[in-house]
Amino acid sequence: MQVLSKRIRGISPSLTLAISAKAKAMKAAGEDVINFGVGEPDFNTPEHIIKAAEDALERGCTKYTPAAGLPELRRAICDKFARDNGLEYEPSQIIVSNGAKHSIFNVCFALLEPGENEEVIIPAPYWLTYPEVVKVCGGVPVIVNTQKKNNFKITPEELRAAITPKTKLFIFNSPCNPTGAVYSEAEVRALAKVCEETGIYVLADEIYEKLVYGEEKPFSMAAVSPWMMDHTVTVNGVSKTYAMTGWRIGYLGAPLEIAKAISSFQSHATSNPNSIAQYATIKALNSPEASVEEMVARFARRRLALIERVSEMKDVYCIIPEGAFYAMLVVSSTYGKSFGSQKITDSVTFSDILLDAAKVAVVPGKAFGADDCVRISYSLSMKDMLEGLERIDAFVQSLQ
Ligand SMILES: Cc1ncc(COP(=O)(O)O)c(C=O)c1O
Repeated sequence: MQVLSKRIRGISPSLTLAISAKAKAMKAAGEDVINFGVGEPDFNTPEHIIKAAEDALERGCTKYTPAAGLPELRRAICDKFARDNGLEYEPSQIIVSNGAKHSIFNVCFALLEPGENEEVIIPAPYWLTYPEVVKVCGGVPVIVNTQKKNNFKITPEELRAAITPKTKLFIFNSPCNPTGAVYSEAEVRALAKVCEETGIYVLADEIYEKLVYGEEKPFSMAAVSPWMMDHTVTVNGVSKTYAMTGWRIGYLGAPLEIAKAISSFQSHATSNPNSIAQYATIKALNSPEASVEEMVARFARRRLALIERVSEMKDVYCIIPEGAFYAMLVVSSTYGKSFGSQKITDSVTFSDILLDAAKVAVVPGKAFGADDCVRISYSLSMKDMLEGLERIDAFVQSLQ
């Protein structure tokens, strides 16, 4: 008899962990490592949010809350969805969880029937958690490779071609990690039309919605039509927008039947997310967003500097990111070349040798289903970012 279940054995180990563990160990040993692997804002949680958590502690708000979240918080989330996204949810349609990652797990767990090979369409490059969660929940990830010429955005034709009678769900992430792609309203509507015509559900992951730098503003899939509202689960959270990754609060808005099922499941699986963090989140959602604007302005300056510096490089280039805080650097022209006796064959060897040789940590694109790229995050100081890009440039030029 196997010790571990089939569904757990099916999970791939995280490719990103090995590199980041190595980068951390090198840093701890006093080496001057520049880390482009960071997946969270390098800013502190704003003071007024921290103060709200302190107040909650002082008021003794340290008990269980309803499993789906405090009524006051679910109301604040409804107000946020209405204000920012034009979505009219009732508090009964909102579930607060331990981070958006937990919300995404809940959605897949609620919708996918194990043993039925239900398919979930995931455009690549993708956030590496999606396929693993789908597999754990008994679904079959169907990866659709997007094109660089389309700025890594899935087209309606590509979506339609991937849909089969087994398709249950389409995971749609805009702004996208890792590509930074932001879909326009027209693009969202065109994809929604395919979903409506084929009757599939959408999980819309909008966690980076406030981190956008171009003209284009993100548009919510559920806002397209009443049909889409009834067939979309909208996931969001406070991790990225308010630099609150460690607080672990994410949330979703869903059709009532789905929300009720997730609420029951969550009541047995984890109960409520942390009560103090819920009070802090109420403050975050109900306050003016000057600190968010300040953070976005700083990311925007780094993004421009990054695009400019990469455009000066030979042999590597990036697809211009419009949102989040990542860029995909296309490095496949270095494959087949060597650094000393070490040969670069793919994004993993590129990242590994780069870390050893230039003390720069990047995430291999293989982790996101894009082995010709590496992901660089610009969640680090301008000075470190420019120094790191300098080192990447010199490294690439030194290859033979
Ligand atoms: C695309 C995407 N969705 C969801 C999450 C999960 O965020 P959290 O669980 O911190 O709310 C992340 C975090 O990296 C992400 O990149």
